[in-house]
Amino acid sequence: MPTHQSLTGSSDEDLLQRMVATHADRYGDDYWAIFNAHVSSRLPRDPVAMDLGCGPGLFLHDFQKRHPSATVYGYDVTPAMVAHARQLSWAGPTATFAVHDLTTQPLPHAAGVAHLVSMSSVLHVLDEPLPVLAEIRRVLAPGGVFLLQDWIRQPLSTYLAWRRDAMGDGPDAVRRGFRLFAVHNKYTPLDWRWLLAEAGLVIRHEAQLRASHRIFVTTPAAAVGT
Ligand SMILES: C[S@@+](CC[C@H](N)C(=O)[O-])C[C@H]1O[C@@H](n2cnc3c(N)ncnc32)[C@H](O)[C@@H]1O
Repeated sequence: MPTHQSLTGSSDEDLLQRMVATHADRYGDDYWAIFNAHVSSRLPRDPVAMDLGCGPGLFLHDFQKRHPSATVYGYDVTPAMVAHARQLSWAGPTATFAVHDLTTQPLPHAAGVAHLVSMSSVLHVLDEPLPVLAEIRRVLAPGGVFLLQDWIRQPLSTYLAWRRDAMGDGPDAVRRGFRLFAVHNKYTPLDWRWLLAEAGLVIRHEAQLRASHRIFVTTPAAAVGT
């Protein structure tokens, strides 16, 4: 099974630094406006939240500031990411981080315990997303939210121009861009909608803050109309 790093050609440390450096751009006021409008209202006062492929832990850190009674869990296959998350200061009841491969291990939780499961820029890397989505569905509480944010397909010219202009890829921008095009431009919004429906998740809201990524707010199908 290829790892995110082997697919993207980044070292663990490069990816960690990139995730930290771009965090504020990716999780800015516009992101939290969507979150507040479409996710927060579905959460209890003391939610259990999980971030799968949590990277440096900064999403959960921001989340716990907004939901101080939240218990949070972050899982990532890359030890450097988990180490970064663990050394942040955590104010809430519990913040647990573990090295965990989503493709080979079930989540270490009973069914129906999670009020929020978030996954951002991870699912596109996994060879088989449906078993991972089934596991997410298993741990979600009735009415719990699965918040997916991931890459969507863009025209090749748009993607290459974005890598050159925004990512500062340097002299090998075109070579790297062609290699990563296949990784990042795998799924259309229609494909994501199909995958979510196959997994028994109903889309309650969707939004697009950037040309490259789409956000889906979903709940388990059994919760429709509740
Ligand atoms: C592009 S980063 C996104 C990190 C974080 N979600 C964010 O938005 O800042 C993708 C993350 O997924 C993790 N990842 C990739 N494959 C994984 C797997 N099979 N199990 C757990 N984590 C995985 C990587 O280690 C990396 O931290």
